Amino acid sequence: MDIDRYPLHQLDSDHGRQFVARCREQLQETGVCHLPGFIRPDAVDAMVKLAGDLDDVAWKSDQNHTVYFEPVDENVPANHPRARTVRSAKHGIAYDHIPADVPLRRLYESEDLTHFIAAVLGKPVLYRSADPLDALQVTSFHPGDELGWHFDRSEFSVTVMYQPSDRGGEFLYVPGLRSDNDPHYAGVQRVLDGDNSDVKVLPGAPGTLAFFHGRNAMHRVTPIQGDTPRVNTVLTYGEVPDMKLNDLTSLLFYGRTSP
Ligand SMILES: [Fe+2]
Repeated sequence: MDIDRYPLHQLDSDHGRQFVARCREQLQETGVCHLPGFIRPDAVDAMVKLAGDLDDVAWKSDQNHTVYFEPVDENVPANHPRARTVRSAKHGIAYDHIPADVPLRRLYESEDLTHFIAAVLGKPVLYRSADPLDALQVTSFHPGDELGWHFDRSEFSVTVMYQPSDRGGEFLYVPGLRSDNDPHYAGVQRVLDGDNSDVKVLPGAPGTLAFFHGRNAMHRVTPIQGDTPRVNTVLTYGEVPDMKLNDLTSLLFYGRTSP
């Protein structure tokens, strides 16, 4: 990674404190903090190659689901967000298939990165996920693949972009569409109906690390067009030390529940 630009190893220095403060400000103001060039080009190339080499063991999923990842609610009108489904199709390489020496795994497993993520999110302590499959995942979206509108279960996500698609494959989000106290169904329904007036596009140049409040900002990846797969990584953290997926979600994302 580019430690000259992003002094992860010196967070207690003036330079480091200013860096964390800038990230926090961006996250609070826009719901997203993105750090272009976080990962150096040779590491980006290594991760794109890994995604191609390991595509055989990737879990290829193609599912319809609600934006809440909950079963369709039969007791609400058909156009209500709880009754509607969207499609998600992708190739997911689980943590247990990612070799220990690849750049992103080494970065993910470093205390420096975990401390930095905690500092930006204002958490006194943060843990890497304890899930043997989901802690770190390399995701490829091939032509026609997409991620349907959804809210994340976790409060926030951290992603690293390696390769955008030729066309399509845009990461769209609606910051603060709901809150922990207000599901704002009318607003969710408007977005599902195609109203894009509050929809923003996350810039995704190769090597960008992004923080994102995924629990209350609905988001999607539009269908991939062209031959180049969109490749990125999701890094998973929790506020409790033993965070794991439930079996249902693990089956959905990885087709299995254990290494
Ligand atoms: Fe998400």
